[in-house]
Amino acid sequence: MAKTLPFYVVILAAVSHSCYGTILAPEDYEWRPIFVDSEVVIGGPFGENFIWQFETQEDRILAFSILDGNIKDAQEFLSIRDGADIYSPKVQLENDDIIQLSRKGLPETLYSTTSKATVQFSKTPISHLKLRIQKAANCSYNIKPETQCGRMVDEVSCYCALFDNKNQPDQTMSCLDSGMKLVSFESKEEEELIQRTWSTQIPFWTSLTDTRRDGSWLWESTMTLLSNGNYTNWFPGRPLTQESDQFNCMLYGGSTYLTFWGDVNCSSLANAICEAQP
Ligand SMILES: *[C@@H]1O[C@H](CO)[C@@H](O)[C@H](O)[C@H]1NC(C)=O
Ligand SMILES: *[C@@H]1O[C@H](CO)[C@@H](O)[C@H](O)[C@H]1NC(C)=O
Ligand SMILES: *[C@@H]1O[C@H](CO)[C@@H](O)[C@H](O)[C@H]1NC(C)=O
Repeated sequence: MAKTLPFYVVILAAVSHSCYGTILAPEDYEWRPIFVDSEVVIGGPFGENFIWQFETQEDRILAFSILDGNIKDAQEFLSIRDGADIYSPKVQLENDDIIQLSRKGLPETLYSTTSKATVQFSKTPISHLKLRIQKAANCSYNIKPETQCGRMVDEVSCYCALFDNKNQPDQTMSCLDSGMKLVSFESKEEEELIQRTWSTQIPFWTSLTDTRRDGSWLWESTMTLLSNGNYTNWFPGRPLTQESDQFNCMLYGGSTYLTFWGDVNCSSLANAICEAQP
């Protein structure tokens, strides 16, 4: 990958969501696929039959949305193809089950199923259309039996609940087997969006453990240490410090801990939430 990178136009993510940084116009297009490292925004005026090709990291897909508008209406002007050329099949809406489970109110987005896509303008758009192309995690509903997946937090990440009881190390492996990671709660908002989807009636494993060093809690999936001032949501009185060497994994929810974090024996059996980030 790194070897071919310099040959593409690489656009880095705009830091803030209200600012889209550079907007590429047709005259900026260099007649080779634009590599989408995080996101790219293209803006008109678009000429009829102008063709744009995009590609991203091999194991990721491309997400298409319209800034200040609706991607479904925009299809009157453009067609998005799921592959490297205009003869590839049209990009389809994501699986119904994923849409059902995904957070309402996310921008309407179309996804490729491969790491390449082609956009062709069949008509000149009436308005000043801005098309946003993002790198996204693939989201398949049934990665395994007893699985539910959706886009709970934003339009580019994917979360799956695995409804089978296993210990924490085994659930870590189950997520990895599906190209995902056991969940890490980076913020209260992320935790709440996940909780709203699956409730916390049943407990599930997260990637937070202090197995490496007692009392030093680490989100294993992101390798970030929980430090003072970071978001936490421990059940009152937890984690136990006097016995911490015996309760090294964070379990979320269930009848004991409700909507809080509990420190328990990593060998206990519970469900899991996996996540995939773009
Ligand atoms: C995304 O998932 C679908 C369904 O499992 C699969 O067919 C496709 O190859 C995956 N795409 C990538 C880029 O991994
Ligand atoms: C956790 O706290 C550290 C140190 O205060 C900070 O650098 C880091 O950004 C915080 N991480 C998160 C996810 O808030
Ligand atoms: C943790 O669970 C395992 C398996 O159930 C058990 O053998 C072990 O004694 C437990 N450890 C503690 C400290 O409760």
